[in-house]
Amino acid sequence: QVIRREDYTPPDFRVDRIDLHVDIREGETIVTSTLSVIGRPGRDKYAPLVLDGQNQELIYLKIDGEDVPPCKYTVGEERMTVEEVGDRATVEIRTRIHPETNTALEGLYRSGSMYCTQCEPEGFRRITYFVDRPDNMALFTTTIEADKGSCPVLLSNGNPVGAGDLPGGRHWAKWEDPFRKPAYLFALVAGNLVPVTDKFVTASGRTVDLRIYVEQGNEDKCAHAMDSLKRSMRWDEEVFGLEYDLDIFMIVAVGDFNMGAMENKGLNIFNVKYVLAKPDTATDTDYQLIEGIIAHEYFHNWTGNRVTCRDWFQLSLKEGLTVFRDQEFSADMNARSVKRIQDVRALRAAQFPEDAGPMAHPVRPDSYIEINNFYTATVYEKGAEVVRMYHTLLGAEGFRKGMDLYFQRHDGDAVTCEDFCLAMEDANGADLSQFRRWYEQAGTPQVKASGHYDADARTYTLTIEQSTAPTPGQPDKQPLLLPMAMGLVGKRSKADLPLQLDGENATHGTERVLRVTAARQVFTFVDVDEEPVPSLFRGFSAPVKLDAGQGEEDLAFLMAHDSDEFNRWEAGQALARKLLLGMVADRADGRAMAVPDSFVAAFRRVLTDGEAAPAFRAQALALPSEGDIGEAMRTIDVDGIHAAREHLRRHLAGKLKAELRATYDSMAVPGVQLDGAAIGKRALRNLCLGYLAGLDADGLALAEAQFDSAEVMTDSVAALVCLSDSTDAAGDRALATFHQRWRHDPLVMDKWFSIQAMAKRPDTLARVKALMGDPSFSVKNPNKVRSLLGAFAAGNPVRFHAADGSGYRFIADQVIALDPMNPQVAARLFSPFARWRRFDEARQALLKAEIERVLATPKLSKDVYEVASKSVA
Ligand code: ARG
Ligand code: ZN
Repeated sequence: QVIRREDYTPPDFRVDRIDLHVDIREGETIVTSTLSVIGRPGRDKYAPLVLDGQNQELIYLKIDGEDVPPCKYTVGEERMTVEEVGDRATVEIRTRIHPETNTALEGLYRSGSMYCTQCEPEGFRRITYFVDRPDNMALFTTTIEADKGSCPVLLSNGNPVGAGDLPGGRHWAKWEDPFRKPAYLFALVAGNLVPVTDKFVTASGRTVDLRIYVEQGNEDKCAHAMDSLKRSMRWDEEVFGLEYDLDIFMIVAVGDFNMGAMENKGLNIFNVKYVLAKPDTATDTDYQLIEGIIAHEYFHNWTGNRVTCRDWFQLSLKEGLTVFRDQEFSADMNARSVKRIQDVRALRAAQFPEDAGPMAHPVRPDSYIEINNFYTATVYEKGAEVVRMYHTLLGAEGFRKGMDLYFQRHDGDAVTCEDFCLAMEDANGADLSQFRRWYEQAGTPQVKASGHYDADARTYTLTIEQSTAPTPGQPDKQPLLLPMAMGLVGKRSKADLPLQLDGENATHGTERVLRVTAARQVFTFVDVDEEPVPSLFRGFSAPVKLDAGQGEEDLAFLMAHDSDEFNRWEAGQALARKLLLGMVADRADGRAMAVPDSFVAAFRRVLTDGEAAPAFRAQALALPSEGDIGEAMRTIDVDGIHAAREHLRRHLAGKLKAELRATYDSMAVPGVQLDGAAIGKRALRNLCLGYLAGLDADGLALAEAQFDSAEVMTDSVAALVCLSDSTDAAGDRALATFHQRWRHDPLVMDKWFSIQAMAKRPDTLARVKALMGDPSFSVKNPNKVRSLLGAFAAGNPVRFHAADGSGYRFIADQVIALDPMNPQVAARLFSPFARWRRFDEARQALLKAEIERVLATPKLSKDVYEVASKSVA
């Protein structure tokens, strides 16, 4: 059943208040909910009260204190319908649910010894019957009752307003949330948890209690999360003038969680992976992810909770905006250009393929079968790029004005992406009508640029053409408004030239944002003193695929001289991509793969450039991923790409062995240091190690030595990755040592699983199958599924796409086995199959056969059905 955006209508009845009583007992939980229901004036007078609800057993239903006779209501699989409900009614519902057997991890479920919830987007309906849609904003009070011994801590949204003991070793606690909210922001936790506490004083002088609840034994791993939280709170005050609004802010870390984290009002629930960290158990990347996700969920308090979404098609209203905000926060806390590079890498790795495949959808989708399938890179990351473009077009100040107006107009409301755009327009007197197409059109725009310098006229003509390929349901595309941040770099001076367009009477600095609006547009620059090399879409100012037609010489020039650090990196990537694509073609045609000395020289310059920050050099020296190279091919040649990339890596390592080794030595970080400079040094040092270990026995020995002496997890993992790629006995030794040391730490075991799942060695599939039998593995735990099966399917192209189809068969089997337990995780695991049309004919046939096998499985979930059926449509 397809849900369409155009079919939106407000509900006939809304719930104004809900008083919830949750009685948790071993084996069953009894939920009693008292709803104040209000009919919408003007509704059809025969309209029934429709309440969403599933996976629960109704015990009784009362209206205004009276039992409702069975002829007045019906209970189906997904909803309850009650006839003849007046304008105002008090509805009391008691149901029975079973959190212990809830393996979908939606609604109320048990994780280890604790009970917790995940309600976004439609999980609340698994707890009780409700108008479970985001435009129903209600006041919640929640009473939790449970065994005091096993569940000493009882939490919900808002403020604690009462607690007490009960007979039989039980107790209760009551919470009241003073802010209206949709049911997806409801949360409840009961368990044996310990709080790590701190305080934050807001800009206006209120003291907020901060608490991170974890299982006993993890208290020493919360310092980084707490520090990140306090910095997020300060940053939002300083940059957006947004203060926290309750007296208490809680975070609970749970081991079984479908996603990263959830922004429930006043009670964020996190995957343990994004809370717990110590230098000997978490990598630098983990630290950065924790910082970013803590910020993300905190920022949702305003962008998502105070102002929420009218319906789920507007998901990017809160997610795109909040991702943009967390990206900016991380950029302010760390090196800005390196953060931008990481974000663009992630966009290219996940969003560009999605936009080019059968699941392609606009940032604001038009229809869905299962909304859980639309928590995508498009809604999140491309959505953040759309928000970033407002910021680029309107400037930081204009953007802030728009945000202020947005909150002024919509605080306490459930609104649409259009409302956000209107606030940005009205606050700035801007016309963004063409810009709105970014919300409507799927697909990545392709931009072609070509330039011509006329030395006599001293003019430079830049022609920009844009087009977007058709996507499912959208055959014709309109031109988009592209903010193009750009500069012209003088070939002689190696400096940015002053920019003056024909018709202007003065120069406008050396960098400006041009508005590209037409399918083909010509910009003529005047008074250009020397021939320039254009540097376009600086900082990735629009999410497009750019072909500036630049040859090796221009790219190497930009790599060395562009004043925009992002574009220096981009030029290097473009150069490497070009070279690699040529090598893949050479190999396919039976020619030898050759690497020009000029490429080695460009690489050496970056490697030995003592002026550039190590973190930046590490980014610049990392070759485009196999996925990235494949994106640029019509038919993805999996083996060719792998062979070419490995060849280039070994070639560079062979030619630059001494420089790599010297850099490795000079980037050593003694002891345990976690500041940005230390992180950057480790990144560059471990990049060097990767090249050296792939080259020869000396390199492997270096990795072994690092593994044995590493003091922080970043260095152990980097060495272990190198060792486990090779079939040398040292690899198995290191893996065994690592297992022995960490087998009781689930988060570290996740790393152990994914390193092996992504190993380049040929027997990886067999090893992954064997690892499913390891006592630390469990298909019921999403982190385990992602780190072993997900890493293999999405992170090891050459092994997943093995020509005999063994990788496909294995993952399809796992999807089929997982689907009845956890449809959301099964659908994610399945998603690499959606790209089947991009491969050669033999692989297409194998992939398609597996998709059809999955589709033929009885009782398939909506989640997997939607992705599988759209893949072959
Ligand atoms: N709103 C959460 C976040 O982005 C994600 C929740 C997604 N949940 C889901 N079941 N798809 O922070
Ligand atoms: Zn979010």
